Amino acid sequence: MVINETLKTLKQRRSIRSYKDEQIKEEELQAILEAGLYAPNAGDQAWHFTVVQNKELLNRLNLTAKQSANQLGIEQLKELANDEKFNCLYDAPTLIIISGNEQTVSPEVDCAAATQNLLLAAESMGLGSCWIFFVLLAFYSSERSNLLNELKIPQGYKPYTAAVLGYKKNAVINVPDRKPNLITYIR
Ligand SMILES: Cc1cc2nc3c(=O)[nH]c(=O)nc-3n(C[C@H](O)[C@H](O)[C@H](O)COP(=O)(O)O)c2cc1C
Repeated sequence: MVINETLKTLKQRRSIRSYKDEQIKEEELQAILEAGLYAPNAGDQAWHFTVVQNKELLNRLNLTAKQSANQLGIEQLKELANDEKFNCLYDAPTLIIISGNEQTVSPEVDCAAATQNLLLAAESMGLGSCWIFFVLLAFYSSERSNLLNELKIPQGYKPYTAAVLGYKKNAVINVPDRKPNLITYIR
């Protein structure tokens, strides 16, 4: 069985939902962003990374996403939206929103590939991360254009994915067994 540092990182990464207040180091952030920029893409790097570390804006994004979730008529989202203690960003100090050019072949897939690179880079440095769909609901509210402006998302780009980063609060994380029979070999 082949084992190396990359494979260990891939297997160790888990979604982290509890973070320390402390901000991540600038050099860690830059290394993570660089990993994102090196992801495979079909759109000639037509993506844009928005780093949000402003607490007031992070709080506002959480509240706007929750308000939006409340109005969508999806019971599971509504439950979370009405839970006062639920913060869709898990109080992480850093949020990265990845936007893609809507005119390219597969912007959502490109953004997803970049997001996975961010998460793996974070794990490789011992940082916690979580892919966050929920916060994107903020863009499905009347605040959409204000937020796009405030976040300086380029014209023609749409936020497709997002992830939070920070130092993990809890060291022990349960890893669910992998499901069997998910691979077919035709040789
Ligand atoms: C497209 C996508 C959206 C996700 N959105 C959220 C989210 O909004 N909130 C959250 O807590 N986790 C979110 N996750 C994380 C998944 O819940 C998590 O990856 C899954 O449960 C497997 O756990 P693991 O990442 O620890 O292996 C998302 C994952 C993906 C791929």
